[in-house]
Amino acid sequence: MSDFNLDNWWQPFTNVRAFRDNPRIFTRAEGSFLYKEDGQEVLDITAGLWCCNIGHGRREVADAVHKQLMELDYAPPFQFGTPPAFQFAERIAGHLPEGINRVFFTNSGSEAVDTALKIAHLYQFARGKGGKSRFISREQGYHGVNVGGTSVQGLPNNRHGFPLLQEVDFLPGMLDIARNAFSRGCPEHGTERMAQAFEQIVAMRGADSICALIIEPVSGAGGMVPPPVGYLQKARELCDQHDILLIFDEVITGFGRTGSAFAATEFGVTPDIMTSAKAINGGTVPMGGVFVKDEIQQAIFDSAPAGVPEFFHGNTYAGTPVAAAAGLASMDIYEREGLFTCAGGAKGEHWADTLHAMRDLPQVIDVRNYGLLGAVSFDSGDLPAKSLGPKIHQRCYDNGVLCRAVGDHMVMSPPLSISEGEIDLFAERFRKSVNEVLG
Ligand SMILES: Cc1ncc(COP(=O)(O)O)c(C=O)c1O
Repeated sequence: MSDFNLDNWWQPFTNVRAFRDNPRIFTRAEGSFLYKEDGQEVLDITAGLWCCNIGHGRREVADAVHKQLMELDYAPPFQFGTPPAFQFAERIAGHLPEGINRVFFTNSGSEAVDTALKIAHLYQFARGKGGKSRFISREQGYHGVNVGGTSVQGLPNNRHGFPLLQEVDFLPGMLDIARNAFSRGCPEHGTERMAQAFEQIVAMRGADSICALIIEPVSGAGGMVPPPVGYLQKARELCDQHDILLIFDEVITGFGRTGSAFAATEFGVTPDIMTSAKAINGGTVPMGGVFVKDEIQQAIFDSAPAGVPEFFHGNTYAGTPVAAAAGLASMDIYEREGLFTCAGGAKGEHWADTLHAMRDLPQVIDVRNYGLLGAVSFDSGDLPAKSLGPKIHQRCYDNGVLCRAVGDHMVMSPPLSISEGEIDLFAERFRKSVNEVLG
């Protein structure tokens, strides 16, 4: 159907050869729906890629972007500023946990992660602890695709064949279906195992060599796994005990996904640095951010020579007025429509009930949920591991629902603006698709 050439755009994280045989093209979006070239609606249970938390096609954001483009399209962020970037940083700071109020804008989550790793490193240097250079992260963690983020991520396919920083140790992944299957919200088991592994790493490497622990509060691309009870609190405690910084990668959990503006608030654990992107402006204009405790910024400022930038780092499009204007308009929507907290209310309950009812589908071995996040895991049965998920994914797409396959885990993250009726429609189409594949 497409009247354009499919050869020239090399798409990210895509099996391009298969795509060319079976192109999946969207041409329009509105509310909770994407639309295919032939007009068929697809209920977007991924919010894009965890981006479109306010729903697709919000006129308010489009108008703000248009106005900003006509008023001031771009000005350099190095040594200059624009009102929208300062205003948006202040609005974000109003939703961050106490003590975290410095915002460093980037263009993506990957850049936010590498920026956070650099800030952590520079902070240790600034306070005379330059030997603290190692990082701890977690198996199954995903932290984007830049060299730092590739090095600290625990998904083997994303690391294989690439240049990596060597100074990284990994905690065990949080997915433990054997012990935690069908948990509603935070599962019971896993905190102790993490604490033991953490202590082993500290004993082996020495706390004097460790800069920071970086983790997603809820593991996303690793299969949507909520933290076990007490896990994040324990991580904070261990970091404090060993003078190690704690970085929360909130690229997917930020902006309302868990039932609070940020997972840090939801779980009552304040990290030292947070990363964000995606839903920061509803997925409309590329933007990311690193949110930092003011005392960390101050230590870096205090140690920097006079007359030069305190941080020799930044992107041409950092805090571009257009992205910030989209952010301000999205923030209005988030606040006015109560989207930061709706995942923790009646909508979140309906979502959890709907998801856990999937337990009766064939070959289901786990259902997990937190806020407006969810996953249904399947036993691949006679098929090779990790090949059932893509089959279900394709059938869902054919039947008008978009979710994500991570191996044999089907992962969901609907727009926060989704209605309860649309959640029911998702259930109907998902169940039909699974039954068609496995029936
Ligand atoms: C936790 C986490 N960190 C970082 C990233 C990278 O963000 P981006 O794709 O915007 O570079 C992602 C993307 O999915 C993510 O889920």
